[in-house]
Amino acid sequence: MPDPAPGGMPGPFLGAAVPAGGFGPVFSLDGITPKIAPDAFIAPSAAVIGDVEIGSETGIWFHCLVRGDLQVIRIGARTNIQDGAIIHVDSGGFATYIGDDVTVGHNAVIHACTLKNRAFVGISATVLDGSVIEEDGMLAAGGLLTPGKRIGPMELWAGAPAKLLRVMSPEERKKFDRNAVVYRDLARRFRAGLRSVG
Ligand SMILES: CC(C)(COP(=O)(O)OP(=O)(O)OC[C@H]1O[C@@H](n2cnc3c(N)ncnc32)[C@H](O)[C@@H]1OP(=O)(O)O)[C@@H](O)C(=O)NCCC(=O)NCCS
Repeated sequence: MPDPAPGGMPGPFLGAAVPAGGFGPVFSLDGITPKIAPDAFIAPSAAVIGDVEIGSETGIWFHCLVRGDLQVIRIGARTNIQDGAIIHVDSGGFATYIGDDVTVGHNAVIHACTLKNRAFVGISATVLDGSVIEEDGMLAAGGLLTPGKRIGPMELWAGAPAKLLRVMSPEERKKFDRNAVVYRDLARRFRAGLRSVG
């Protein structure tokens, strides 16, 4: 039994170092186990379940859910799935594919869709079934991308339902690229330095 946490609640990580690699809870489902690069960071309070693959230096931050049950979920390298995001699939046939150097902001919902390399999904945005964000495309914070829509390369969409706001210049887009680098470095830091102290 783990030591009781203050207040008497069991604390599974209390007093112990975070498991090797900073891995949080990872669950097999019906014998299918997530495949996770050894240098990825999975926060202790995240849950990664079933038919999921996660690439090198990607971070799955606190309180995220990545649930590969009805279809597969594939996440590339150096991608950041920020705290509280939910990644799921659809029973009707859409899996979820997330490329390299992608940013998924805090509290976003990514449902049965495709986010190509360097796609950017803002804080609390929602991407629905069968939709695609092409390379360097962006959905603004709070946006709702409705089913089957496609955000083109360098396009910034915003609103609920989301509409094209503008096509970004390379200079504007570069500012958002910086985010993936910051989060890749943060994932390294957390893998090396995060310890539970109660
Ligand atoms: C879209 C975004 C980049 C701001 O764009 P911007 O053009 O610089 O914003 P501005 O303040 O100049 O506003 C331009 C117009 O867009 C609107 N707008 C700005 N952000 C918006 C958003 N998120 N949703 C809807 N409309 C938005 C403004 O109201 C304004 O409309 P108006 O011209 O009718 O007044 C910003 O809102 C955003 O989503 N950033 C992402 C942050 C994030 O989620 N980071 C992830 C975690 S690190």
